[in-house]
Amino acid sequence: MSRWAYVNGRFVRHGEAAVHIEDRGYQLADGIYEVWAVIGGRLIDVEGHFERLARSLAELRIAEPMGRRALELVLREAVRRNRVSYGLVYLQVTRGVARRDHAFPDPPPPPAIVITAKSLDRAAAEARAARGISVITLPENRWGRCDIKTVGLLPNALAKQAAKEQGAGEAWFVDADGLVTEGASSNAWIIDKDGVLRTRDTTANILRGVTRKTVMGLVGELNIRLDERAFTPEEAKSAREAFITGAGALVMPVVAVDGTPIGDGKPGPVAQRLRALYILNAQASNNL
Ligand code: PDD
Repeated sequence: MSRWAYVNGRFVRHGEAAVHIEDRGYQLADGIYEVWAVIGGRLIDVEGHFERLARSLAELRIAEPMGRRALELVLREAVRRNRVSYGLVYLQVTRGVARRDHAFPDPPPPPAIVITAKSLDRAAAEARAARGISVITLPENRWGRCDIKTVGLLPNALAKQAAKEQGAGEAWFVDADGLVTEGASSNAWIIDKDGVLRTRDTTANILRGVTRKTVMGLVGELNIRLDERAFTPEEAKSAREAFITGAGALVMPVVAVDGTPIGDGKPGPVAQRLRALYILNAQASNNL
């Protein structure tokens, strides 16, 4: 039996269904989903799932992809076309397709919508229910693995958007101990009031920045002490200089933190020197 998926306005064969490679759901996990149980060919707990769907969309400021009535019709049509008696209907809505950038695309593209439906083996489910299942316990770590360069970037995208809305170019995350971890898409650095170059150590829950590492190798050319030691936003505000590093930013001077100017509020000499050195070195090395 052929399966059908609903993709952005039409039903297509499941095997041929596709979304754009720059869909923000695919690249940044910038989307939400909902799942309805289907029993006897009918959607279960319809209201509860619609309410949560509306809430999830509102929280991410994604527009409703279609009206409630129309969406219900499509969900039921997905159940009908896929001949689901007992199973699930899956709905996913993303912010849509846009050139990759963490902050929300402006103007917003139309949200992208995908609906699939699948049958489950009812007898097997009942047999399992009759036996019962066991569980294991794990530390709560969702999402506590910022060392992995995963596409699960929704918090980063929201942080970048918040920065943009406040006229800033980057957001720095601060952990439960009140220490800066890293930026939404970069590593964070300061030259503190004592002239020490500081950035978070990589035993912390941060991305091991490649640019960060290369920059560390360049510090030897400057007469400056490097310390992989965390700093607070207050220390950043009283720092001589601050900057960020990353494949996108290279070395980018930071002139204000939460509205407080750093140093004299202009790009600092060390940051500028490191930027120049980084670019010079990159051009000199035999990269591809
Ligand atoms: N971001 N921290 C985070 C969370 C990042 O996303 C990045 C890079 C970095 C710096 O890593 P590197 O120096 O290896 O680029 C640190 C890329 C540029 C991005 O998402 O566009």
